[in-house]
Amino acid sequence: MAVKLVAPVLLFLLFEYSSATVIYNVLSFGATANGFFDSRNAFLKAWDLACASTNPAIIYVPPGRYLIASALIFSGQTCKSKAIRIYIDGTLVAPTNYNVIGNTHVWIKFYKTNNVTISGGTLDAQGAPLWFCKSSGMKTCPLGATTLGIYHSQNIVISNLRSVNSQRFHIILYACNNAKLQGVSVSAPGLSPNTDGIHLIYSKDVTILNSSIATGDDCISIGPGNSNLWIEKVVCGPGHGISIGSLGWVTEEAGVQNVTVKTASFIGGQNGLRIKTWARRSNGFVKDVVFQHISMVNVKNPIIIDANYCPNHENCPNEVSGVKISNVMYEDVHGTSATRVAVKFDCKMGKPCTGIRLKDVNLIYGSQPAASFCSYAAGSASGLLRPTSCL
Ligand SMILES: *[C@@H]1O[C@H](CO)[C@@H](O)[C@H](O)[C@H]1NC(C)=O
Ligand SMILES: *[C@@H]1O[C@H](CO)[C@@H](O)[C@H](O)[C@H]1NC(C)=O
Ligand SMILES: *[C@@H]1O[C@H](CO)[C@@H](O)[C@H](O)[C@H]1NC(C)=O
Repeated sequence: MAVKLVAPVLLFLLFEYSSATVIYNVLSFGATANGFFDSRNAFLKAWDLACASTNPAIIYVPPGRYLIASALIFSGQTCKSKAIRIYIDGTLVAPTNYNVIGNTHVWIKFYKTNNVTISGGTLDAQGAPLWFCKSSGMKTCPLGATTLGIYHSQNIVISNLRSVNSQRFHIILYACNNAKLQGVSVSAPGLSPNTDGIHLIYSKDVTILNSSIATGDDCISIGPGNSNLWIEKVVCGPGHGISIGSLGWVTEEAGVQNVTVKTASFIGGQNGLRIKTWARRSNGFVKDVVFQHISMVNVKNPIIIDANYCPNHENCPNEVSGVKISNVMYEDVHGTSATRVAVKFDCKMGKPCTGIRLKDVNLIYGSQPAASFCSYAAGSASGLLRPTSCL
């Protein structure tokens, strides 16, 4: 394809690779940028060639709207290429009829890929009609698809990507190693159901930087089996905050370990920093978590550990203790709470929360003092503490 189709940023990057890099422009494979004709096969052809290339490969998506009319899977299982970069200047759109992708788990999926970089672009899953179906209480609505799912992959970079109006979760990383998400922007209305921003599960060494997430469910949700997560310079809200959990649904469950959330702000929304575990028997755990330099603006539960999660008291026989929570540090958390109890540690007798540390926490509730609540939570507190600590 002609180099003149390539954006300036791309030309600059080409120097890094010199002539060894091959570029596949989706327009060369029959993609149409008008948003009406299905471009899925063109994307797949470009992927197949990039994947088969023994040189580093670039897939380029020029400006315009590209309909991806059914689930798209980029499989890396047989790739020869040592690295594939996907540069998107356009928008990928899902079909307006939510039923078409609504029962596939993931709309755009990467499976067993290595060294893939996705830069720029917008993913628009057009989820609104499905949310209305769900909120109208109709029983026939499909579950909804996750917009972008990266499964069993390594060395992944996602930068400056925008995801809007997912049917269900926006981005999932499942069993990934070494992933970096940077400059990601997620947006869906505060009342859109289950539209988590970024969901991590069984993943390791994941960094999320400089990202902004406004959605109807968790901003970032951290499921079982995650370790070494670094989340920095993230803005959340509206939504349900950064949540470790829900954990402990099953008895034998991989734990969550070594999570750092640094320099984040939460604006409105239900929660800020949340750890949520089912009141069910489980060997799971959460340990070594640091929350540092966090600002809250009118958040309902700025700091919350809920180890008694059991909606409607269903599915929790005897409501026993489950996941063990230990060594969680909150340092320099400040701002405003939308409810009186700004700090809540609701743990269980059998497995109390231990090693909870508060340092310089300053949360206020309107013109009144905020309050803390502790149940079976032990640890220490230092520095300025408003509300006063109940540890
Ligand atoms: C991924 O990139 C690294 C470093 O550039 C390289 O050593 C490795 O072989 C690549 N992996 C694959 C599967 O090509
Ligand atoms: C942060 O992300 C925004 C997009 O959300 C991007 O425009 C900006 O360049 C990024 N800044 C850095 C330092 O990565
Ligand atoms: C914790 O995770 C960070 C990356 O987020 C990593 O740099 C550090 O080495 C990890 N610590 C341990 C003890 O594994």
